[in-house]
Amino acid sequence: MSLADYTPSPNGPTVETVLSVQHYTDRLFKFRVTRPASLRFRSGEFVMIGLLGDDKRPILRAYSVASPEWDEELEFYSIKVPDGPLTSRLAGIQPGDKILLGRKPTGTLVLDALTPGRRLYMFSTGTGFAPFASLTRDPATYERFEEVIVTHTCRDAAELAYSAELIGGLVEDPLVGEVAGGKIRRVATTTRETTPLMGRITDLISSGKLFAHLGVPPLDPATDRAMICGSLQMTLDTKALMLAAGLREGAVSEPGDFVIEKAFVG
Ligand code: A2P
Repeated sequence: MSLADYTPSPNGPTVETVLSVQHYTDRLFKFRVTRPASLRFRSGEFVMIGLLGDDKRPILRAYSVASPEWDEELEFYSIKVPDGPLTSRLAGIQPGDKILLGRKPTGTLVLDALTPGRRLYMFSTGTGFAPFASLTRDPATYERFEEVIVTHTCRDAAELAYSAELIGGLVEDPLVGEVAGGKIRRVATTTRETTPLMGRITDLISSGKLFAHLGVPPLDPATDRAMICGSLQMTLDTKALMLAAGLREGAVSEPGDFVIEKAFVG
C-alpha cells in the first residue's frame, strides 16, 4: 500500500520521504528521512514512525531519533523482525519512498533528566544504541560532562558496525569533533562471538571488569551519571546495578543520576 494518496490529519503523522538506507546485517539497518520544519525534539527522544498496512491503516511504532536535534534530516536505526508488523515492511524501503512520522517526540533519555555530574555512561544493547547516536553528536553532551563512555553490547561483531562507524566518525564531525575527541570512549562487547571484550554489560559492571578495562573507579553517585537503553530485561537488570551503586533514577520532571528507556522493536 503506497502513501502517495494518503492525506495526513491535522494532528496525525506527517508523510516524509526516505533519503537513504544502509543495511548493516540481515537484522539491522539505518535510514534517513526528511525532517519537517515543525518537528522539534531533544537529542535522545523518540517519535512514532510507520507505514500503511494492507488494510490501509497506519502501523506506527516508537523509534528513538538517532540524529541530533540540530540535524536537518532525521536518522533512525532499526532491527528487522521477519514477522514484525512494521519492521518487516520497513526493511524494504528505498530512497524516494514515503513513511509516516509522528508529531510529538518525547522520552526520558535527555540531558535535562540528569543532575550535573563528571562522567556520563551510556549503556546500550542492540538497537538501544540509537538514542546515543543522537546524544553523542550533540555538543550539549560535552558541555555538561567531562567524560562520556558509550557501551554497546551485541550478539556478534557485525552488529556493532553502526556504533563503530558513528563513534569512530565523531572526530571528523565539524560540530563536535574537537570537543568529543578527548572526552568520548566506546566500549564494544559481544556475547555470542569471540571478540577482545566479551560479556553482557551487566556482568561487566557487577564483576568490575568494565571499570578495570576503562581504568576508572567503580560507579560513584558523586561523579557518575548513566543513561540506559536496551531490551526491557536489560534495562531492569542495569537499573538494579545503578540503584545498588547508590544512583537515583531521574525523569524530566525530576532529574536524577540515571535514566532508562526500553529500545523499541517489532
Ligand atoms: P545474550 O547474547 O547473552 O542474550 P538481542 O540481540 O537479543 O536484542 O540482544 C542484544 C544484546 O543484549 C546481546 O548481547 C544479549 O546478550 C544482551 N542482553 C540480553 N538480555 C540482557 C540482559 N538482561 N542484561 C544485559 N544484557 C542482555
